[in-house]
Amino acid sequence: MDKLRIMSVFGTRPEAIKMCPLVKELASRPEIESLCCVTAQHRQMLDSVLEVFDLKPDWDLDIMTPRQTLSTITSKCLLGMDEAIDALKPDMILVHGDTSTTFAGALSAFYHQVPVGHVEAGLRTYDKYSPFPEEMNRKMVSAIADLYFCPTVNNRENLVKEGITKGLFVTGNTVIDALKTTVRKDYTFATEELNHLPYGEKKVILVTCHRRENYGEPMKHIMLALRQIAEQHEDVELVYPVHLSPVVREAVDKYLRGAPRVHLIDPLPADEMHNLMARCYMVMTDSGGLQEEAPALGKPVLVLRRETERPEAVAAGTVKLAGVVQDDIVTMAERLICDKAAYAKMAHAVNPYGDGNACRRIADAILWHFGRGEKPEDYLA
Ligand code: UD1
Ligand code: UDP
Repeated sequence: MDKLRIMSVFGTRPEAIKMCPLVKELASRPEIESLCCVTAQHRQMLDSVLEVFDLKPDWDLDIMTPRQTLSTITSKCLLGMDEAIDALKPDMILVHGDTSTTFAGALSAFYHQVPVGHVEAGLRTYDKYSPFPEEMNRKMVSAIADLYFCPTVNNRENLVKEGITKGLFVTGNTVIDALKTTVRKDYTFATEELNHLPYGEKKVILVTCHRRENYGEPMKHIMLALRQIAEQHEDVELVYPVHLSPVVREAVDKYLRGAPRVHLIDPLPADEMHNLMARCYMVMTDSGGLQEEAPALGKPVLVLRRETERPEAVAAGTVKLAGVVQDDIVTMAERLICDKAAYAKMAHAVNPYGDGNACRRIADAILWHFGRGEKPEDYLA
């Protein structure tokens, strides 16, 4: 029997971190030819992940331009995907999450009548503009997909409520599979500065911020809140690997640079980031991925957004929504910095997002779909 040609498509850092372990799992199956097409919606931040996971894509659309717009990303991906699909002739295309690459990858697969598997399916805020454009991207992919790999039972329920009842699997999130390969107790950082941070002696707070809906006023509030926290607490050190987006960098330069006890550094390779998270005191972020990783590592998270599509860790008590208003953010951070009991209540490891076997379940589900294996069991947290 011919091997199934399963093509994973991704383009940004978080997609890559969550898809590399899956590309490798698929490659380990004798029935599958695992193909990888990157759009390079991110260039440096994508290449860094490919290096960490030692993965060489079969196809690279190389679309990134500085300050790219949503329309240019989507249209360049669509045009490039035509060529990739014609050349690699996949039996199924896998896309991940909710970026513009995800949407364009799924739409292109549909145009070529290639079935689509959606990894990290079923996340919702029910607010069209937040996260923007991700909420609509993932809804549009749901309309196209044939297989839905939901990280949690809650994600599956979201899809069922929308009338999707076939092809649903609860797999856990592949990010936990990735974490299992990167985090080490005896890890030495290649970024020398990170080996010398006062973990334990001071409160090392890991910060990231990049979301489009936070551009403008919300990002200004976030930066000023971080500045205020650093200025007012001598026992705190903020470590902030700044996203390469020029919009983010401008806000950081204008409102945060120069504050005491703030370490502004370049984006970190995934293994460095994961091990830094494992050692820090707490996390403040608007990232989706960090909201999944930090709880697994027992680190409290303050989410710098008005809503979240990841309510599981909020329910478990390790993640709180801090919003995007300076005073609110400062108040919530100070509680965790100064109140030991409040901190202890949030600092316990929970794993609502997976057991590290998501990639195995997804590969099994794909084989089952093509009549070449058993149906995998659901992941029940
Ligand atoms: C994108 C995704 C977002 C995801 C985020 C992860 C969309 C619309 N947005 O947002 O869902 O959460 O990635 O980080 O799909 N840049 C570089 N080098 C890089 C990466 C980015 O220079 O390696 C700069 C470029 O100027 C680029 C800009 O950052 O134009 C913005 O990148 P883009 O992918 O458009 O948006 P993100 O905010 O990164
Ligand atoms: N990350 C990284 N280096 C950094 C910042 C983040 O490797 O300097 C990782 C992080 O651990 C997580 C992923 O990138 O796995 C999250 O990506 P991002 O916040 O850019 O996107 P989101 O998850 O919000 O879509």
